[in-house]
Formats: sequence, structure tokens, C-alpha cells
Amino acid sequence: MKVAITGATGFVGSRLVERLQAQGHQPLILTRNRAAALRSFPNLEIVSYTPTESGSWQEAIAGCDAVVNLAGEPIAEHRWTPKQKQEILDSRKLGTQKIVEAIAQANPKPAVLVNASAIGYYGSSETATFDETSSSGNDFLAEVCQDWEAQAQKVKDAGVRLVILRLGIVLGNGGALAKMIPPFQLFAGGPLGTGRQWFSWIHRDDLVNLILFALTRPDMEGVFNATAPNPVRMSEFCQALGKVLSRPSWLPVPKND
Ligand SMILES: NC(=O)c1ccc[n+]([C@@H]2O[C@H](COP(=O)([O-])OP(=O)(O)OC[C@H]3O[C@@H](n4cnc5c(N)ncnc54)[C@H](OP(=O)(O)O)[C@@H]3O)[C@@H](O)[C@H]2O)c1
Repeated sequence: MKVAITGATGFVGSRLVERLQAQGHQPLILTRNRAAALRSFPNLEIVSYTPTESGSWQEAIAGCDAVVNLAGEPIAEHRWTPKQKQEILDSRKLGTQKIVEAIAQANPKPAVLVNASAIGYYGSSETATFDETSSSGNDFLAEVCQDWEAQAQKVKDAGVRLVILRLGIVLGNGGALAKMIPPFQLFAGGPLGTGRQWFSWIHRDDLVNLILFALTRPDMEGVFNATAPNPVRMSEFCQALGKVLSRPSWLPVPKND
């Protein structure tokens, strides 16, 4: 199977590429930074692209069996200035619009689009439980997820199967965990706020298995929460992390607004 992937150089995408290769599939990397992608994937087909603009890169989609759309400006790396918020939104909303445009124009078309979204779709609550039928929240991230998913939904007009995965926090070696560990190592770790916020998570390998499953199962279609079945409160998660690192988890850390 030939699989075009955006965001392939990221935390999730890089592991997906590894697994696809190990299974004998053919990943095609769409990236903004060809030189960096070549260093990560010296033996793979790499196409430079402009995520929010149409261009000749879109022709690369023709002949692919599937597309996995993971690209997006990182959420937690920079302060949310108005410019940064626009980048977070545009990279997902316009980026997905251009991918769907490319799929619609492709001849032959891929059979499936697997598109990332996030459980941020639901907003947050200390008491409510959310499943795929729950309505969306109304904070910034919830609105980004709605716009992101709305663009992906349009691929169905082209007769292409769509799987949207609403990702929980992805845990593995790197990613969110890499940002959470340093305060613990300095004996300063602990949850933000009350610690009662829910922490819905998924292991990176389970997520990659889910993406592979979605790619190969013609009967899988629609929106799925990509989370482990046992979410924990943030305080519980931090306690577990502190235990593993042999460090205390302090409660609470004042919220940084
Ligand atoms: N990791 C999590 O805990 C988590 C949770 C919920 C949702 N998600 C979503 O799942 C997707 C994959 O997550 P990840 O952790 O693998 O992300 P990541 O490590 O931050 O990688 C995202 C990739 O997107 C591309 N990218 C970065 N900034 C961009 C921009 N401004 N415009 C267009 N493309 C950009 C980059 O690829 P190139 O430089 O090669 O173009 C990058 O490798 C993301 O959309 C993320 O929002 C992740």
C-alpha cells in the first residue's frame, strides 16, 4: 500500500512511517522541510509541500492508496498570541482543505483519508464523560477541532472513506511526556490547577496500531476517540509519573495564565 503522510516527521508520524515500512508498505512523505525529512527518512519518497496553498505537490496524491493527515502547528510549544492561534488554526483547517482538494483531484483517488483531530473537540469538564456522540465544546481548541474535522468531512463528497481520530494525549518516548518530565527531575513536578482535570491518554504504539487498522479495514468509517479506556485525573497521572521517576508530585502548582 502506498500511503501519503503529512506530519510524518512528528512524534506520531515518525513511528507510523517506521511501522508502515516494517510491514512492507510504501510511505510517501509530504513535508515543509525536505532536508530535515531526508535526514529522517533517507530511503523514502519525499515531496516538498506548502500545506496551506495549492500547488504541484498535490499531484503526488494520485496513485496513493491512502492518506494520513497529521500535520499541524504544535499546540503547546509557544505562547498563544493571536498570531500563534491563527497558525494553529490555519495549519489544520487550510492544511486539511488542501489535502482534501488534492484527494478530490487525484486520478486514481486514494481509498481512505485518516485525519487527526483531538479530544479537545469536547472542551473540558471535571464531571462529564464524553463519547463520539457528545457535542463539541466552545473554547479555542474545540473550535479548531470543529473546523479541522469539517474540512476533512468534505472528502466524502469525493467518494473517499474517512476516519477521523480524536487523539488523547499521546504518551511514548518524547512528545508530551518529554515536556512533563523535567520539572519532576528537578523535584518540582505536579499537576497544574486543581489536579482534578481528566487526562485522557493513548500510547503512541496503540495509536499507530489504530491508524494501521483504519487504513486496512474498509468497514471502519467515521469519528473515533483514540484514547485508552481508563482516563485518570491529572493528579493521579502526576503521582504515577513521580513514582516512576522516584520524585514527589506536589499539589497543586499554580496555574500560569
Ligand atoms: N501528540 C499528542 O499528544 C496529540 C494529542 C492530540 C492531537 N494531536 C494531533 O495529532 C497530530 C500529530 O501529533 P504529533 O504529536 O505527531 O505532532 P508533532 O510532533 O508536533 O508533529 C506535527 C508535524 O506537523 C508538521 N507541522 C508543524 N508545524 C506546522 C505548521 N505550522 N503547518 C503545517 N505543518 C506543520 C511538521 O511536519 P513537517 O515539518 O515535516 O511539515 C510536524 O512534524 C497533530 O496535528 C496534533 O495536533 C496530537
